Amino acid sequence: MVHVGIIGLGWMGELHAHYLSQIDGCKVVACCDTDAKRAAEFAKKYGATPYTKYKDLLLDQDVNTVYIVTPQKYHYEIAMATMQAQKHMMCEKPLALTAEEINGLRKQAIGYTKKITINFPQRFSIATQEAMEEINNGALGDIQFMRCNFRFSMKKHAQTHGAWIFDKTQGGGLILESSVHMWDAVRYMTGREVESVCAVAHNNEKANFEDNFVCIANLQGGAIACVDMSGWLPENAATDKRFELIGSKGSIYLDEHRHYMAIQSEQKVQNNPGMYTDGLTYKDSLWHSSVAGGVMRFNENFVRCILKDIVPLIRLEDGARASEITWSITKSLKSGRMEKVIYGQ
Ligand SMILES: NC(=O)c1ccc[n+]([C@@H]2O[C@H](COP(=O)([O-])OP(=O)(O)OC[C@H]3O[C@@H](n4cnc5c(N)ncnc54)[C@H](O)[C@@H]3O)[C@@H](O)[C@H]2O)c1
Repeated sequence: MVHVGIIGLGWMGELHAHYLSQIDGCKVVACCDTDAKRAAEFAKKYGATPYTKYKDLLLDQDVNTVYIVTPQKYHYEIAMATMQAQKHMMCEKPLALTAEEINGLRKQAIGYTKKITINFPQRFSIATQEAMEEINNGALGDIQFMRCNFRFSMKKHAQTHGAWIFDKTQGGGLILESSVHMWDAVRYMTGREVESVCAVAHNNEKANFEDNFVCIANLQGGAIACVDMSGWLPENAATDKRFELIGSKGSIYLDEHRHYMAIQSEQKVQNNPGMYTDGLTYKDSLWHSSVAGGVMRFNENFVRCILKDIVPLIRLEDGARASEITWSITKSLKSGRMEKVIYGQ
């Protein structure tokens, strides 16, 4: 049985608990939040033991798997302690706030025998999985170009997440906090590492962080990518994520949240408004390609990896590299130049 202890019981902690508690072979047995009232309410809802100090949760012998869902300022400290306690570990993105922290976690994870994963739910959206099936079957040939557009409402974020999200010392800023999803998509879908980046951004003076940005990137093997993000959608707008991949044999256009995929290749030309997945309605496909659907499938997968002793699709190294790309973006914003991405130094 997978016995989960969740640390950080906010918006995302609740989402994980909701899905974990529905998975066969898995139970949420402990929970922790610095807000004692929140921990007690959560514990009552899920039949778990409440804690207000993560170190006490880690001493709970009934917990074999830890979910770290606090603001990222605490990820490093709690992830190090979780590995020292020898538990399976899920850490939310972004993995950590600095290169030193990332390297510390890498070092600690060498030879670690328990499972570790990072939550990039987009890899588990049906829309992405369908696209990956085509890519893995060679429909695009040698991928040379990828474009990612990510749009959302910062006003809505201000309601769903704590105030930490707009404080760079706690959240790392929007480029780290949100673009890691896009860099993970670039690495996963093209199968190529990001070598260098150059970015421009609009700085929100009041909040003191970048709220719109565009970044171009050189990938391994001469391929290129462009990632642009805007937090300026109105409050009532749905999150919008679109990808375009072009290779030597074809192209895919993917609108993740509307579950639309158009593929043009030597093998097929198809405009596919979500009818691709056997046995699912268009509405089902839309849900499975939303953040919640991705989180549900991510959790089903991680529980299966623990129970069947399988290496998780998303490893610590993926979380590390997505964050490391963003350090070079920040560097480029200061220098105005293309900056090399440095991994693991
Ligand atoms: N993978 C994704 O798609 C995704 C989406 C949203 C958020 N996240 C990540 O999930 C994490 C949490 O985000 P959220 O939106 O749930 O935030 P939130 O502000 O809603 O909740 C955070 C909770 O953590 C608690 N907390 C803070 N410090 C703590 C500590 N030291 N020990 C125990 N509890 C502590 C707070 O009291 C709060 O209840 C962040 O790292 C965020 O980046 C990931």
